[in-house]
Amino acid sequence: MDKYIIQGGTKLYGQVRAQSAKNAVLPLLAGCVLTDETIKIKDVPAIADVENMLRILGEVGCKIVRRKEHTLIDSANAVSHEIPPRLTKELRSSVFMLGSILTRFRKAKISYPGGCDIGLRPIDLHLSGLRRLGVEITEEGGYIECRAEKLVGAEILLDFPSVGATENIILAAVKAEGRTVIRNAAKEPEIVDLQNFLNAMGAKVKGAGGGTVVIEGVKRLHGVEYTPMKDRIEVGTYLIAAASCGGEIETIGVPAENITALLHKLRENGCQTYVKNDKIILQSKGVLKSVNLVETTPFPGFPTDLQAQYSALCTTAKGTTLVVENLFETRYKYAGELKRMGADITVRDRTAVIRGVEKLHGAKVVAGDLRGGAALVLAGLQADGVSEVADLSHIDRGYEGLEYKLRRLGAKIKRVRI
Ligand code: UD1
Repeated sequence: MDKYIIQGGTKLYGQVRAQSAKNAVLPLLAGCVLTDETIKIKDVPAIADVENMLRILGEVGCKIVRRKEHTLIDSANAVSHEIPPRLTKELRSSVFMLGSILTRFRKAKISYPGGCDIGLRPIDLHLSGLRRLGVEITEEGGYIECRAEKLVGAEILLDFPSVGATENIILAAVKAEGRTVIRNAAKEPEIVDLQNFLNAMGAKVKGAGGGTVVIEGVKRLHGVEYTPMKDRIEVGTYLIAAASCGGEIETIGVPAENITALLHKLRENGCQTYVKNDKIILQSKGVLKSVNLVETTPFPGFPTDLQAQYSALCTTAKGTTLVVENLFETRYKYAGELKRMGADITVRDRTAVIRGVEKLHGAKVVAGDLRGGAALVLAGLQADGVSEVADLSHIDRGYEGLEYKLRRLGAKIKRVRI
């Protein structure tokens, strides 16, 4: 088990190049079993969620060649429609495999998926969507078993624009008979990336990024070489770091329109931002004023995956910030750790009231989930004195080389093995 030791109080200067987006790469990898030709994905990030997804593909029978610049996935000899619990418990995205494995084998069996413990995270919308496509589903002993003689296109109205359900249904519908229409679909940019990837394989998907996705089933998909979009949540994390520490950084890879909601808040906090194509420059004096309200909502609203990091910034912004988490029930577990660093936070259900204090001070804290862990690192960077953030396994799920990238910006952070 590794931990970070952080000497806070350094301003951040320099450039950060974004990794490929975790939340784009995971459904893309699931999509690799939709063809028996080889798929080449460039710049697949070295993060634990991706390695777990590759393990799942290996279990299904795919041949994987993992290189730094690209990853080859060849599912010609895929044989298994089953994903065992030891693999699904590590990764919620294992659920995406339902749609693509069903397409491939007409049957699928997985145990209930895991992932960050941030709320109930049911998968009822995934399952009801698949049922509409003709899938018979039984749930027993922690397993979900799906069967379909054939998949047939259908009209599906999602009760909530779930990212995962939208992606799963797309993956099940690309080779279904006829047309599928998903209404109230999630609009996240990662869904557009999945559409682009599948269309490059010969699929006919349109409308992603809007509320209605239309999929015309095709008979065959072929191999492709694909570069995934860059990670807006990773870039957002570095922008928040620079905003709260002060300094000037430039991020490369994510266009501003993918994180408009965050940039809007950072400007309200008193930061300057300049954007051009896929570059964002942020300047901050490190002394921020609070915004009144931050509420997480589906895209293009403020992303739940930046809520914890942004809350870390609010701890020293002048004034009081009200944070409302609308997506997940228990996404404030990091708040207790921030309090150990001197933060003034009161959490009640889905709302946190954060009163800005003059300074945080260094403390020993433990990361409890991926984004909450990142928030603790950001708090350590702006705090007086030395902080230790333990249990980096959560952070490693989503950030490639967090400490290297931060050190290149001038941060004093090192990783040590306990
Ligand atoms: C994806 C992202 C995750 C992000 C989240 C919201 C990936 C791999 N993960 O997760 O990082 O935080 O979107 O932007 O892309 N829900 C149901 N029933 C369902 C499915 C979802 O009630 O069948 C609820 C969830 O409990 C949650 C809300 O819908 O309250 C949003 O979940 P969803 O959009 O599905 O998130 P994920 O796909 O799990």
